[in-house]
Amino acid sequence: MRQDVDVTPVWMMRQAGRYLPEYRKTRSKAGDFMSLCKSPELACEVTLQPLRRYAFDAAILFSDILTIPDAMGQGLFFETGEGPRFKKVIRTQSDVERLPVISAEKDLSYVMSAVSLIRKELNGSVPLIGFSGSPWTLATYMIEGGGSKDFHRAKAFMYNDRNAMHLLLDKLTDAVIDYLNAQIRAGAQAIQIFDTWGGILTTPGYFEFSLNYMKKIASSLIKEYDGAVIPVILFTKNGGQWLEKIADSAADAIGLDWTTEIGAARQRVGGVCALQGNMDPAILRTSPSVIRKEVGKILENFGEGNGHIFNLGHGITPEVDPDNVSAFVDAVHEISAQYHT
Ligand code: CP3
Repeated sequence: MRQDVDVTPVWMMRQAGRYLPEYRKTRSKAGDFMSLCKSPELACEVTLQPLRRYAFDAAILFSDILTIPDAMGQGLFFETGEGPRFKKVIRTQSDVERLPVISAEKDLSYVMSAVSLIRKELNGSVPLIGFSGSPWTLATYMIEGGGSKDFHRAKAFMYNDRNAMHLLLDKLTDAVIDYLNAQIRAGAQAIQIFDTWGGILTTPGYFEFSLNYMKKIASSLIKEYDGAVIPVILFTKNGGQWLEKIADSAADAIGLDWTTEIGAARQRVGGVCALQGNMDPAILRTSPSVIRKEVGKILENFGEGNGHIFNLGHGITPEVDPDNVSAFVDAVHEISAQYHT
């Protein structure tokens, strides 16, 4: 890992999404978001759309982290403007006990079909990143029944009934390992674990309820497939204060949100892990010249050498002007050349 490069590689969380008119067109052809995820041809099409416009150095599978709870029978649906929702919620230990053990290859076969189709279409041009949510992040959605501002139900469940919470996290961990290994066998060449809500926990809570499970996942994934190493990127939003511990987790790279300075992060863990990130997505809503300046600051802050994958600190938002994304990608490639000699 951390191979020498001529320019810093770049991709973008949510690079296939609503800021692209061609994405909106394909989604309306599919009918709704979940039908788009469940059609391998259309999921492949939207995965490739951003690569036709921009010089990204990786593709990311188009899907969602909530496919696992959906396959467990929780009934995922999306209400316009309201984000994800579940028909069933987890509120008691017996709800957890009733959750079925799923087989990713069988119950999420549409994801594996999309992965193999995307690999075929990419034809070696750029690597394909597969992904999953972290067990903790999936658990928050399953307990809340959707998104939340303060996650008080998920936290109450954790504080009131710690054993039931661990049972849920154990079940999700097994499902995530099976799901990610199936993605690797289908053709995913790197894996990102999205721990979007790990950062809402206390420090001991993060280690106990989120990081431990991600560690188990990172060390249970297929390490090499088809002669190539499969790197694992671990992204805990708001996880900046725990970088040393995250670096200790068998992950190959750490995803950073924009609140941590990347140069300081490099000093803390640069010898152990690569870093991914970390431009504030709000900057994409400014102008090409501001974007270029801000990209330059992050590259300068990271400094010379390899071990940096440029990205945003979180997903791109739907209002961004697609031309600003060109400015972003081109700025990373152009400005970073001086740091790789
Ligand atoms: O990064 C990519 O381009 C790959 C595709 C991807 C999506 N969701 C597509 C999507 C990935 C990696 C995800 C992960 C995901 N999904 C996360 C973790 C990453 C993060 O953003 O923190 C989470 C928490 C979810 C759950 C989820 N799915 C939410 C909260 C929403 C609603 C968000 C919104 O903006 O309305 C979704 C829907 C979703 N997933 C969309 C996309 C492109 C928007 C759906 C649409 O087209 O209307």
